[in-house]
Amino acid sequence: AMRQRQELLKLHETAADIYHHVLLNTEAGEEALHYLKERGMTEELIKEFEIGYAPKERILLQKVFERDNVSDELLAESGLMTERDEGFIDRFYQRIMFPIRDDKGKTVAFSGRVLPSETVDTSKQPKYLNSPETPLFNKRQVLFNFDKAKAIARKEQELILFEGFMDVIASWRAGVKQGVASMGTSLTNEQINMIKRQSKNVVIAYDGDSAGIEATHRAIDLLSAQTDLGISILSLPGGLDPDDFIKENGEDRYREIMKNGRESPFSFYMRYHQKGKNMKNEQEKFAYIETMVKELAKIPSVIEREVYITQLSEEFSISPEAIESELQKVKQVDR
Ligand code: UTP
Ligand code: MN
Ligand code: MN
Ligand code: MN
Ligand code: MN
Repeated sequence: AMRQRQELLKLHETAADIYHHVLLNTEAGEEALHYLKERGMTEELIKEFEIGYAPKERILLQKVFERDNVSDELLAESGLMTERDEGFIDRFYQRIMFPIRDDKGKTVAFSGRVLPSETVDTSKQPKYLNSPETPLFNKRQVLFNFDKAKAIARKEQELILFEGFMDVIASWRAGVKQGVASMGTSLTNEQINMIKRQSKNVVIAYDGDSAGIEATHRAIDLLSAQTDLGISILSLPGGLDPDDFIKENGEDRYREIMKNGRESPFSFYMRYHQKGKNMKNEQEKFAYIETMVKELAKIPSVIEREVYITQLSEEFSISPEAIESELQKVKQVDR
């Protein structure tokens, strides 16, 4: 198994090198390179993240692995190939390739992004195609860019969670380098443990669209279960994701909002649960307060809860005692 792991790592290293070479130095990679540069990607960044391109013919890795006499068994285990009656062909084609690395910086998987081209029907294909689960790759245990972010996170005592690879990379370009992204799924306990080992604080900086807002809510609920982890939220305006935000507003503004634009989970919940409601309507106001009391009940820290009770009490002119007694009721129901 140890031996097989080494061999699979070697295949991934070879694949990453080849995809990268194709993107930077061949005609097949030109369209993709142009697209990346349009998106603000520099050659330096492309090298830093070893971004590549898989051309449409599906024979790139096939030929190299055949030359190297790689066994069928290994090809099947690698997740890099697709088995057909005629033999193995490349799984990834006509995609921009992002190597996914483990915490030691070894490439263990890929995610491939489609080009926005007329030749690809994006309604039939996922925007990002990830490697399947393999002996090297369990997506629950991997965070994109964790290998590079962890040293910075330890120093800054803060790790930033993004939704997408491009957000991590755009943020890196702007000098905010302690960012990671989960693999298109909601946060797992394994990933939370990875984060906790490096940093006492985590910032959730998901997309500003409704999917991102829902995902933020879920992430807060998961992370709040960890009493020893400080959580803050960066909500971006106008439904933008961090990459779009930087493109529209520039890197200075991004660094500024990253520094000063954060809020507590409770403030996030207050905005979240007020959205679309009329607080002048008594019924809606009471329903809102009840919801917020339930959110309060989820917060493990007594001190934090006190702060938020004060906040809620001042905003709606209710005595803290009344909120406290509602809170006790909610907690009793929970038991
Ligand atoms: P988004 O849809 O927000 O994409 O998905 P994005 O990161 O902004 O991508 P660009 O800017 O259009 O290139 C967020 C993340 O969810 C995962 C990817 O990790 C993506 O970065 N995802 C998304 C998938 O795994 N598969 C998909 O089909 C779409
Ligand atoms: Mn999104
Ligand atoms: Mn996005
Ligand atoms: Mn995006
Ligand atoms: Mn809720």
